Order: sequence, then C-alpha cells, then structure tokens
Amino acid sequence: GLFNVHPDVENLKSKIKPRKGVILGAGQVGMACAYSILIQDCFDELILQDIAAEKVEGEVMDLLHGVPFISPTRIKAGTVADVGKDADVVIVTAGSSQKEGETRLDLLHRNVKIFRGLIGDIAKHCPNAILLIVANPVDIMTYVSLKLSGFPSSRVFGSGTILDTARFRALLSHRLDIDPRSVHAYIIGEHGDSEVPVWSKANVAGMKICDGDWEGSPACNIAELNDIFEQVKNAAYEIIKRKGYTSYAIGLAVTDIVKAILRNQNRIMTVSTYVDGMYGLPEICISLPSIVNREGVMKVMNFSLAENEEKLLQKSAQTLREYIDKLEL
Ligand code: 2OP
Repeated sequence: GLFNVHPDVENLKSKIKPRKGVILGAGQVGMACAYSILIQDCFDELILQDIAAEKVEGEVMDLLHGVPFISPTRIKAGTVADVGKDADVVIVTAGSSQKEGETRLDLLHRNVKIFRGLIGDIAKHCPNAILLIVANPVDIMTYVSLKLSGFPSSRVFGSGTILDTARFRALLSHRLDIDPRSVHAYIIGEHGDSEVPVWSKANVAGMKICDGDWEGSPACNIAELNDIFEQVKNAAYEIIKRKGYTSYAIGLAVTDIVKAILRNQNRIMTVSTYVDGMYGLPEICISLPSIVNREGVMKVMNFSLAENEEKLLQKSAQTLREYIDKLEL
C-alpha cells in the first residue's frame, strides 16, 4: 500500500486528547469569539451551536474555507451532546442582546428563560467542562448558570468586567501614550452601570496614575479621570448607538480567558465569579481580579480597596443581588 502503518498507531491514538471547545450562539458575539479563537489556535476542535441551523452552517462553511491560512482547527456545527464529556470549555453567548436604549439588566428575564434549557443540556452532556458565560446581564447569567448546572463555582464564571478593564486600559494607554499592557488598572463590580474603577491601584510601572507619579498623568485633573471612566462605562451604549452591537473586543477578551484556561496561565483577570462574604458582599457573581487557570477560577484576590471604592463595590453587588432575589431558580 501507500503507507507503512506504524504498529503503535492505534495505541497512540487513544492517548491523544484534543482540546475541545463549544460556542453556544452564532450571533455577532459568538462569531467574533469563534474567529478570534480560531486565528489564535486555541482548540483542536471547535463546535458552534445555534438554534438557527442554516445560519450556523453558513458560518462554519465560511470559517472552514479560511483554515488553509492558519493553524488548522476542526470546526463543526453541532451541539454540546456531540462533544460530550470531552468538552474542555463551553462558551455561552446565546440569548438576546441589548438594543439601543436597553440596559444589560433589561435582558434578564428573556435570557434566564433561554438558559434553563441550555445550561441543563451542558451539565448533562459536558459534566467536566468549564462554563464561560458571556451573555448579558453577565453577572446574573453566571449566577443562574452556577445554580442550574450544579457545577463547582471554580468551573462557572463570566467574562465580567474583563472587557471594561480592557476599555479602561485602552483609554488610559491612549491618554498616557503607554502600551496598554503596561497600564495596570482594573474595573470591578457589575459589568454594567454600577461598575467601579479602582483608581487607588491604577499604575504604570508601579507609579500611581491618580497621584500624578507618572509623568504626563492627568492626575490633578479629576474631571479628566472621571471622563475617562465615564467613557468606559458608557462604551457599549455608544458603540450600540453607532453599529448596533459590540463584538470584536469581547471576542478578543474571551480568547484571552480561553488561553488562560487551556495553558494553565494563572492569569489575573477581572472575571465574574462567585463570592459570598468577601468585602461583606452578599452571595452573587461579580467581577474582582481573580486567578484563572486550567481549573477555572482558582482564587479571588482580596486586594485592599479605598473606602469609597469598597462602598461602591457593595452598592454594585446590592444591585445584582436585588435582581437575583426576584428570580425563581
Ligand atoms: C459590551 O459591554 C454589550 O456587554 C456588552 O460591549
């Protein structure tokens, strides 16, 4: 024959464990995640699941035709049932998205309804997966997913304020003329209107932006700092007003989380994670800097906040808890 098959081949095959991911929802966010994950070579197999069968088929065809240009990933349209217990990460973007004039919290009841079926399916078919929730309102949907899945809290978390933290760093980077990767600043709390900028810790090379330690920092100009935060907080509204949805930045953010998981990076990320009691917070999912690795969220950092920041965080948590209290889970 053409090939001389090595006698150990069958034995080897059983030892190879491909990295498998599933994205639920082939809308703008799901597809931005898929594209970014694909070109950054995160999984060996990527499954896209959507109730719109034709749409997801078309998306898969389109992506598949680009594979000769990148490191190959096997992409398929399918369901969590097809991937089963081998799924490493299940990314949930499915659900309604904000329309102009809506807040993230306005989506709650629509998306809880959708999640009842979806999360049950994931828990049944992919019992070993890490659940990464992206759909909004992400903090509450993460909490709902935690309760509906019965998974340990380390394995259910949301994209949270990782995107707001990125927006914060991007805008500060622009203002300070420093690579955003060298701007250390966090947005914590709700991914939404009550989010909190941690100015007390924001620094470049250890020099606090607020104190004006960093040359060229707008420290003395509180109005300018406030304006930067307002732009971060309102970014999604401004983008939705112009293009109807947000997609690229969240796609890149989700890819970074996936890489932190699969490569066991112990990376600090402001993901939305389960807390109960920290900073006197009620039982909720909310974003705080956390260590992300192959186990999921390993630890939530208990970092010192300024008094007003802690108060704002508690208020943000309270907002989320009030919405959770209205749900029947
Ligand atoms: C965003 O912040 C809409 O949550 C989405 O871009």
